[in-house]
Parts: sequence; C-alpha cells; structure tokens
Amino acid sequence: MKVTSDMSSSGRRVIGVGIIGAGARGVNCIGRQIAEPFDDTGLRVAALCDRNRERVDAAARLLHNLVPNRGATPPPKTYLDASQLIAAPEVDLVVITTPSYLHREGVTPALRGGETVQMRDIPGHAL
Ligand SMILES: NC(=O)c1ccc[n+]([C@@H]2O[C@H](COP(=O)([O-])OP(=O)(O)OC[C@H]3O[C@@H](n4cnc5c(N)ncnc54)[C@H](O)[C@@H]3O)[C@@H](O)[C@H]2O)c1
Repeated sequence: MKVTSDMSSSGRRVIGVGIIGAGARGVNCIGRQIAEPFDDTGLRVAALCDRNRERVDAAARLLHNLVPNRGATPPPKTYLDASQLIAAPEVDLVVITTPSYLHREGVTPALRGGETVQMRDIPGHAL
C-alpha cells in the first residue's frame, strides 16, 4: 500500500480510501463505515468515483457530512473515470463496489498501478 497522506489532528496517520461505485454498497455501507469512525481509525474517504455525476457529487457531500470534526478534513474528491481515481495522489487504498461483472475493469488497472485493492464481494468473473 502506498501511503501519501498526512497525519490527522489526533496524530494518526491518515489513509485515503478511494471508492469506485457510489451506489448503495459504496455509500450507505462501505462509505459510512469509513467516514463515521475517522477519529478512531485515521481512514478517510478521500475520493469517490461513479459514472453518474449527480450520484457521485451527492455521495461526496453525504459522506463528508458524516465525518467528525469535518472542518479539518477535505471533502472527498470526485471522479467519473476509475483510472483517474486510481492515479489520484490522495488515494492510498481502493475499494471497488461496482456490480460484480464490472470488477475486472476496476481491479486490473488498480493492481497494475500498485494500489492495495479491497473488493467487498466475491470477485466477479475471471480477473
Ligand atoms: N447494496 C447492498 O447492500 C449490497 C450488499 C452486498 C453486496 N452488494 C454488491 O455490491 C455491488 C454493488 O451493489 P449496489 O447495491 O451498490 O449497486 P448500485 O447499482 O446501487 O451501485 C453501483 C454503482 O456503480 C456505478 N458504476 C458502474 N460501473 C462503474 C464504473 N465503471 N465506474 C464507476 N462507477 C460505476 C453505478 O453508476 C452505480 O452508481 C453488487 O455487486 C452487489 O451484489 C451490495
């Protein structure tokens, strides 16, 4: 895992998570689980990607509002293209929450880019 982020105000190293797929799984499940305990974990949703612009912008606002002491934490950056999120400097770890049959197109470039990838589902189709 590459770690490019700063320390949090509590002295924890901040690890930036990029979520590809701002649907129910990516936002209401995984995104919330990362955003709400930021003070305890140092994990933050640093970036979100979805093909749908309105959805990804709304998700970024929602998740940022859940972060404790959010004034000191930047809102997640938003992307429409997974390759841009994977290459983004604020992203240390990629979580893929697109439908299973689309995992391959997100996972392969992320692994090639040296990212740590987490898939919260059985990997869809041959990788
Ligand atoms: N929703 C749940 O509670 C739940 C629970 C367990 C597992 N899952 C699994 O999680 C996966 C996603 O489920 P969901 O309910 O969030 O689906 P969803 O349809 O609500 O969200 C998927 C999102 O991925 C986006 N997307 C698709 N291709 C993309 C791409 N190439 N780049 C960027 N964004 C892309 C879509 O625009 C959509 O917003 C599914 O495989 C599902 O089986 C979901």
